[in-house]
Amino acid sequence: MSDELKKQAAKAAMQEVRSGMRIGLGTGSTAKHFVDYLGAEVANGFECICVPTSEVTAAQARSLNIPLTTLDEIDSLDVTVDGADEIDANKYLIKGGGGALLREKIVAAASAKMVVIADTSKMVDHLGAFPLPIEVNKFGLGATTKLVQTIMDEFAAQGGLALRQTKGGQAFETDGGHFILDASFGLISDAKALSNALLNVPGVVQHGLFLDMCSAAYLASPDGVVELGGTV
Ligand code: A5P
Repeated sequence: MSDELKKQAAKAAMQEVRSGMRIGLGTGSTAKHFVDYLGAEVANGFECICVPTSEVTAAQARSLNIPLTTLDEIDSLDVTVDGADEIDANKYLIKGGGGALLREKIVAAASAKMVVIADTSKMVDHLGAFPLPIEVNKFGLGATTKLVQTIMDEFAAQGGLALRQTKGGQAFETDGGHFILDASFGLISDAKALSNALLNVPGVVQHGLFLDMCSAAYLASPDGVVELGGTV
């Protein structure tokens, strides 16, 4: 998607924040624009306290003098604004393309509202074309991979399972020190059942299906930004 559309979605989500709020800051190229807009408001006196979902976002927020805290200091947030890799009509999401899914999910779950920003190309009829990121403990990687593959077979996955690598060919490590398996389902027919099955694997730390978490989405297209509202 064009960077301009990402900016438009991020700008539209600024209407979700008010001075004095506790805000979760997402990760990724779209969330980065939201953090930039927020930083500009902070420079003009906007007050907020924020929890970043990754070390990358934390560094960006610090560079913009956005006040940061942790979910140890405060246990809840008013709103989190974050990107997504796929979103369906129920506002079910696949996230984690940037590798921050665990912190993103912890922060979203601590928020009264989760707002997604994306362009309309992220909208899908059915989740699953984007490989599902699954964060796994380093210990027992082989055994965990085997159990995840069994689940993929049960859910009639159309593609394979791959350990995420860096450009340098090393295993990608998350901020939490875990690995990521990217599972190509092609089509996820029962996201809730898949979520439960994956969470039942001891070595799975978390997965990138965000179900019943997104409250609203601002989706940008060349014709403008549409809001996908409703309740969670
Ligand atoms: C980060 O782990 C992801 O969940 C991102 O939010 C998601 O991949 C969207 O990223 P972009 O805004 O860069 O497409």
